[in-house]
Amino acid sequence: MNPSASSAATTDNDPYDLFKSAANLVIKVAIATVVVVGTIIFLALMATPDHVGSGDMSEQAVASRIQKVGSLVLGDASGGGARTGEELYKGRCAACHDAGLLGSPKLADKGAWSARIASGYDALLTAALKGKKAMPAQGGSGYSDADVGRAVVYMANAAGAKFAEPKAETSSETAATQAKKSKP
Ligand code: HEC
Repeated sequence: MNPSASSAATTDNDPYDLFKSAANLVIKVAIATVVVVGTIIFLALMATPDHVGSGDMSEQAVASRIQKVGSLVLGDASGGGARTGEELYKGRCAACHDAGLLGSPKLADKGAWSARIASGYDALLTAALKGKKAMPAQGGSGYSDADVGRAVVYMANAAGAKFAEPKAETSSETAATQAKKSKP
């Protein structure tokens, strides 16, 4: 028999045992409370503007927060950031035209380009802007019309054409006008 059972002081209803289990419960509740409250405080801190962002809802601040990583810096009218036809070509057009993918005329392949060059810069530019067969519009790039024009000039000239390089701020309309002047 359990020796404690013989003693009146240690029965199942012993007030001391009751006290122990009550104290146990209090400690467990206290620990659970600390964990829950701590978690809430942690989450609340994570959600403060310091962590989430500046909270600045101005157009510029929002734009800078949602901006894609590695955004393209397109040439501006000041000419300072304008990319050359070669850079533009390498940025997008080379994906197909370096290897002649999907039946595209290879860069500097005079055989593939001579007839195209003979059709004139306007025709080439229009094909690049609107797309042609496997080539998507703008050559699949996000370039401005003027940038596509510079890439076209670079490609055509690499295969022997002598098209004039459109200026950075040239709109597609004036690029076409320029092209007329520079037709071979
Ligand atoms: C997805 C592949 C692909 C990409 C990317 C691409 N091209 Fe093309 N490109 C083609 C194909 C295919 C043709 C041949 C179309 C045809 O059948 O005449 C072509 C033809 C051309 C021609 C000749 C059009 C003509 O009338 O003969 C030019 C100019 C040209 N591309 C410019 C560009 C420029 C500039 C870029 C980049 C901004 C570019 N391409 C990106 C696939 C591509």
